[in-house]
Amino acid sequence: MHLSEHVDEFNRQGFTVIRGAMSEEQADLIRAGVLSAFEGPEDGYGANIRTKMFEKGKPFVELIGQPVVADFAEEVLGGNCHMFSMNSLLTPKGSGIDVWHVDEELFFPLPDDVELDPRIPMPTFLFTCLYYLVDVEANMGPTQLVPGSHRSGQEPAPKQNPPIYKGQEPVSITAQKGDCLIFTGQTWHRGAKNESDKPRVVQQVTYSRRWVSQRFYPFVNYRMPDEVVAWAEGNRRLTRMLGFHPRGPYG
Ligand SMILES: [Fe+2]
Repeated sequence: MHLSEHVDEFNRQGFTVIRGAMSEEQADLIRAGVLSAFEGPEDGYGANIRTKMFEKGKPFVELIGQPVVADFAEEVLGGNCHMFSMNSLLTPKGSGIDVWHVDEELFFPLPDDVELDPRIPMPTFLFTCLYYLVDVEANMGPTQLVPGSHRSGQEPAPKQNPPIYKGQEPVSITAQKGDCLIFTGQTWHRGAKNESDKPRVVQQVTYSRRWVSQRFYPFVNYRMPDEVVAWAEGNRRLTRMLGFHPRGPYG
């Protein structure tokens, strides 16, 4: 699929999958870094998540500029977009965020009886790229999404399980190591429970429009380590995606 086809699919259904977005070697390298982060202390977000993974080494900073995926980010969010957050998730047997949800809150809520005009694309302010670092089979807690539900302007109804939007049931994303799911958190989604003995390991890169502030805990007091900046040195795109911008109308 060409980039424009991925963009069309993303706008239409709220997600798209880029198969083989990273090589096996790169996936193995990133997975080793992720697993070593999970051997270290928690960073305030719980046992199954680590944040600010760009601090964990040059390969993580370089991942922000991953070919095709970074092009997609600039196509959808503008040539001045940046990395919003960079979390990794480890989902061992029996765990998973298996409640249907949208991320954070609805960005464009609609009243119950109002539908978005089909001529209007749902505006996208940020989205998440989820790199699978192991093969994810049907019993390993695949990501599940309801196609088109990002246009509903509604949260998934709590009593409807599974949630259905315009007759469309959820789809499960089974993936091979190196595949990348790009989805807007406005799409109704969940990570099903991992019922296998193999842990699910994923690395996320979330990109946002320039005017959406980055989320680096503890926020106001966060200082990006000098070594992180040095890993991007000489690469203008990466430097910008880390958050170095020219002045704008609000700052
Ligand atoms: Fe989510």
